[in-house]
Amino acid sequence: MKLSIAILSTALSLLATGVSADLWIPPVIEPHAGAVWVVGQYYNITWDNADPPVNITDQLGHAYLAKGFEYNSDGPQLASNFPLLQGWVTVQVPNVANGDDYSVVLFGDSANFGPEFTIVSA
Ligand SMILES: *[C@@H]1O[C@H](CO)[C@@H](O)[C@H](O)[C@H]1NC(C)=O
Ligand SMILES: *[C@@H]1O[C@H](CO)[C@@H](O)[C@H](O)[C@H]1NC(C)=O
Repeated sequence: MKLSIAILSTALSLLATGVSADLWIPPVIEPHAGAVWVVGQYYNITWDNADPPVNITDQLGHAYLAKGFEYNSDGPQLASNFPLLQGWVTVQVPNVANGDDYSVVLFGDSANFGPEFTIVSA
């Protein structure tokens, strides 16, 4: 399944108008725009975990790798079931093709794309 950022934003605005005030989409901080990750190495994804809604406690996050701001659910998963409140998770860079249009998709209540960064082979 492919999910473009346009579809995501539509889904998000629907959610934002319809559902609870507990919707929390922490913004991705690292990898920052233009960062370079090397295949096989370990890096931290970090996000802004300040000011979560009260009921977010214990919520688990998932992180995927997107290319060209397109997230493919068959694509590489970076990490799963980590506590969103922690604000960071260590991941190993999967063996993907070189590219400068990768981004991290962080899933909590909903999904949030980080900025584009580069992955190069070791
Ligand atoms: C990730 O962040 C944690 C907490 O700050 C730190 O202990 C760890 O060394 C970091 N790992 C990497 C690969 O940067
Ligand atoms: C948190 O969830 C509980 C149980 O669902 C609810 O009673 C409470 O009002 C919620 N608190 C906030 C701030 O939404």
